[in-house]
Amino acid sequence: MSITTFAIESSCDETSAAVLQDGKVISNIISSQCFHKEYGGIVPELASRAHVQVIDEIVNRAVNEAGIKIDEVSLIAASQGPGLIGSLLVGYNYAKGFALSRGIPFMGIDHIESHLFSCFIGKEEVEFPFIALVVSGGHTILFHVESYLSYKILGNTHDDAAGEAFDKVAKMLGLDYPGGPLIDKLAATGNPHFHKFPKSIIKGSPYDFSFSGIKTSVLYFLKNNYATDKTNLPLNDIAASFQAAVTGSLIDKTIKAAKDHSIKSIAVSGGVSANSGLRNGFLKYENEGYSIYFPEKIYSTDNAAMIGYNAYLKYKANGSKAALSNENPLLEKAYARFHY
Ligand code: KG4
Ligand code: ZN
Repeated sequence: MSITTFAIESSCDETSAAVLQDGKVISNIISSQCFHKEYGGIVPELASRAHVQVIDEIVNRAVNEAGIKIDEVSLIAASQGPGLIGSLLVGYNYAKGFALSRGIPFMGIDHIESHLFSCFIGKEEVEFPFIALVVSGGHTILFHVESYLSYKILGNTHDDAAGEAFDKVAKMLGLDYPGGPLIDKLAATGNPHFHKFPKSIIKGSPYDFSFSGIKTSVLYFLKNNYATDKTNLPLNDIAASFQAAVTGSLIDKTIKAAKDHSIKSIAVSGGVSANSGLRNGFLKYENEGYSIYFPEKIYSTDNAAMIGYNAYLKYKANGSKAALSNENPLLEKAYARFHY
């Protein structure tokens, strides 16, 4: 029997709805809240209100573009965390209300786990085991994945997430929010050897990350060299050097985890996985026999297709049991400091 999944994502500043047919994406509508730029970061209350304003339209567009009738939907899913609670509630309650009113199975889905599996949307077979790096605006987590339903967390960030570091450094450079894509663009024509920013090294925790040191180092570099005159700020070179330090740490630790576990497949996902420096750096390891998986760029940043895909994988493996249970003690522990 074919499974039609309808999914909603609203954990941060994207309102998104998607329809999937047996795990294949047939529509994926994303509306991004650009107005946060004015404030230099996400304003949670404004984010939730904006979700409320557009969610009906986004859902209708996703359903119309997919060309399906509501009666055909067999599974409804929504992001349940981690994320901004006010934003999450909008999509989660919309989806749950929809499911209850129609008697359709509902699944609350983990956002980070969905990033993790987004690498395999549209691919026929997933090769287990693999090492997964999820790098987003709020998280930097290294996983050892044995199956769709079984994985271990190897490392986590001790302070800032990689995306957060990109956004904060972009702000120091006078760039808009979100700064990751802007730094990426500037870095393309900059010199990565212009300045050596420190890589993240944590004694005794080879798979853990820390990005607050790099961030502070950029701050002092700017203060010491360009405090009085910003006219000649070499934006491209600073962006390239900063990007090289961050992506270098991410790549080194992921490759170490793969080597230590004798695993040759690596999946890199989350908003920062759109970064060209990170993609090119990882792809070099294909010459050493590694298989490197990235999501298509549209599935790198927040989107509902990845929520629907993850729900579909679980539903296929566990049926209605999966639709009822969505607890994952492992991930909840990892998110504890984010008040999941
Ligand atoms: O996964 P995502 O859309 O949202 C979260 O779950 O956090 O990730 C957003 C993050 C932001 O910090 C953004 O600056 C970063 O991903 N990002 C990038 C790039 N595109 C998005 N960072 C570096 N290079 C990019 N090309
Ligand atoms: Zn995300």
